[in-house]
Amino acid sequence: APGSPALTPPLGWNSWNTFGCAIDESLIRGMADAIVSTGMRTAGYRYVVVDDCWFDPQRDGQGNLRANPDRFPSGMKALGDYLHGRGLKFGLYQVPTAQTCAQRGGAYPGSTGSQGHEQQDAATFAAWGVDYLKYDWCSPEGSRDEQVAAFTRMRDALRGTGRDIVYSINPNSYHAPTGATYNWGTVADLWRTTEDIKPFWDTGNVNSYPMGVVNIIDETLPLAAQAGPGHWNDPDMLEVGVGGLTPTEYRAHFALWALMAAPLIAGNDIRSMSADVSTVLRNADLLAVNQDPAGHGGRRVRDDGATEVIAKALADGSVAVALLNRGGATARISTTTAEVGLLGAGPFTVRDLWTGGESASTGTVSADVPSHGVAAFRVRGGTPATLTTSTVVGAGSTR
Ligand code: GLA
Repeated sequence: APGSPALTPPLGWNSWNTFGCAIDESLIRGMADAIVSTGMRTAGYRYVVVDDCWFDPQRDGQGNLRANPDRFPSGMKALGDYLHGRGLKFGLYQVPTAQTCAQRGGAYPGSTGSQGHEQQDAATFAAWGVDYLKYDWCSPEGSRDEQVAAFTRMRDALRGTGRDIVYSINPNSYHAPTGATYNWGTVADLWRTTEDIKPFWDTGNVNSYPMGVVNIIDETLPLAAQAGPGHWNDPDMLEVGVGGLTPTEYRAHFALWALMAAPLIAGNDIRSMSADVSTVLRNADLLAVNQDPAGHGGRRVRDDGATEVIAKALADGSVAVALLNRGGATARISTTTAEVGLLGAGPFTVRDLWTGGESASTGTVSADVPSHGVAAFRVRGGTPATLTTSTVVGAGSTR
């Protein structure tokens, strides 16, 4: 949204994908310590977002939100101070409706949504030092107009506090995939483009709940033109290291999210992550692609069904290229510098974003890509990439 503090996609960690409702302050503090000690903070991960189930099931006598006293006995201001003291930022979850998703589903008691309390809650968040609000439409009811009105009310309430608070909305709970085509760029800093991710590669159905990695890119890649500094498509949080995907799929998931200019919100247990998972999440070349100041979303430029090519134009005139193999066996995938938007005769340099190896090219970019893998490159040379059209070449998909 205008005036956004998120001029590049937010990087951080969120409690939901691994811990769900089972959260407390020692968990969050331990995770913050691990984000520092593992080098995640140095890599750029800053926002520590406490998702659903942090609050007291009852507001106080004045209608103020409170921390759940058993789970967060030191209170949310103290938690924010703890995070800020470690060079991190503080995020919280809330809903514009009456009940959070966990309350609605019966997993957590109470009815403490912000409906009718927007200014009061925004003031509370600012007083606690909140830097990021995840605001989740958790109701099957409500028209798009009602959603726009409610999300705008909280946008204005947050602005009214005078504090920089990244505003992350989800209009899509119970609404998949109808929220995907609405452009929320004047309302929020990031908005979910899909239903919830779970650690699957492909659930086989773009309208499914939950959604897998390739289902989510199918919904989000067509929305590339909506992405830019301060207004990001959010294809949901990372499942890297959560379990359920293979190491090859984790790498593909991360590279695709990096090229989509997605917020990269890790969801794994940072305290116990493997060296492999840590290496994926801290891949400096892919993080630079994701954090590129031009803020272009990656576009599908070639679609041959089982294989496809995604390209993201970068501020320095180079282009990031992902070769995705959705098929069941290793495949040779090829594109050209012209196809990814680099015109002219070169010479071109192709940097492998997984190995750091560089090679010269006269115009071909290709790799043998394993099943469910992504080869990722940064290609320099020729006339700077523009990639503003939505032309997709190739045999097309049967999806
Ligand atoms: C919704 C959101 C999730 C998570 C849960 C919490 O499902 O999409 O990301 O916040 O609510 O209940």
